[in-house]
Amino acid sequence: MQQIVLSGIRSTGNLHLGNYFGAIKSFVRMQHEYNCYFFVADWHSLTTHPHPGDLHANVKSVLSEYLACGIDPEVCTLYVQSDIPEIAEMYLLMNMNAYIGELERTTTFKEKIRKQPDNVNAGLLTYPVLMATDILIHKANKVPVGKDQEQNIEMARRFGKRFNQIYGTDYFPEPEGFTYAKNLVKIPGLDGSGKMGKSEGNAINLADDAKTIHQKVMKAVTDAGPTEMNQTPPEVIENLFKLMEVASTPETVAFYREQYAKCQIRYGDLKKQLSADIIQFTAPIRERILEIQSDDAYLAKVVSMGAEKARISASATLIDVREIIGFRKF
Ligand code: TRP
Repeated sequence: MQQIVLSGIRSTGNLHLGNYFGAIKSFVRMQHEYNCYFFVADWHSLTTHPHPGDLHANVKSVLSEYLACGIDPEVCTLYVQSDIPEIAEMYLLMNMNAYIGELERTTTFKEKIRKQPDNVNAGLLTYPVLMATDILIHKANKVPVGKDQEQNIEMARRFGKRFNQIYGTDYFPEPEGFTYAKNLVKIPGLDGSGKMGKSEGNAINLADDAKTIHQKVMKAVTDAGPTEMNQTPPEVIENLFKLMEVASTPETVAFYREQYAKCQIRYGDLKKQLSADIIQFTAPIRERILEIQSDDAYLAKVVSMGAEKARISASATLIDVREIIGFRKF
């Protein structure tokens, strides 16, 4: 049988070039190789108390961005978590077999306590239970996630195994996390750091307009320039070459690398070229994002189709789970 791949998408934050060449590219490829479920984790976002006015707008913008990048709702199952009531019921059931102690010991929970000491809500504590439910309700085999989510996958595996053990079944398969980062290009930030990330504030978003991209690239950190012929560029400079490698033609990259090697490089020129090439690369994606975002009828169709498909799988699991736990109809 075809393997089931599932991943939850945070509903806050815009997609940037780093995401594009990381998660997104691998999702787009995987949707053709596996039975894929991708969803916007809007219930999870409530743990940080978003403003009601932002909740829907956030979901809409992530959805539009994923769709614009090539996630195909006809090929995979793309849905919004809160459209699937079965998840809420199963979360309730799963909470009964999750222990306070193990939840309190989770690294992500401890981090959240540090980050939002005035809002240590119960949803934050049971975040891994909801996430395990997301995964188990479709009996997912593979969960592509970033490194920061590995412990949550471990918890999902543990809760699934515990359920099997308590009720003496082998109902849930063991979900396996896998990081897509290994064999993909890592996109560096514009600040000399090794990685582009939204929290690092060094990212170029796919939805950024030309002016914003230009400003960001022109502000990228550089150094005083090469002093010796053929010297190896330091990380800040190598990062700019790496960005060029994804956005520019090989000839352009070769040209600037050579200028560097000959100590003739002008960083201003390199940045102008880089910003023009990034703008050219992202423009069609940005256009699609805007197009999709202004098409509420299309988005409504996408999410209702996704919910319909997701609920078939989710409700089948929930019926079994109720039965296994011992609920019976009169
Ligand atoms: N916790 C994940 C994140 O912050 C999002 C998420 C929610 C998720 N449910 C999931 C990821 C289920 C994978 C599987 O990125």
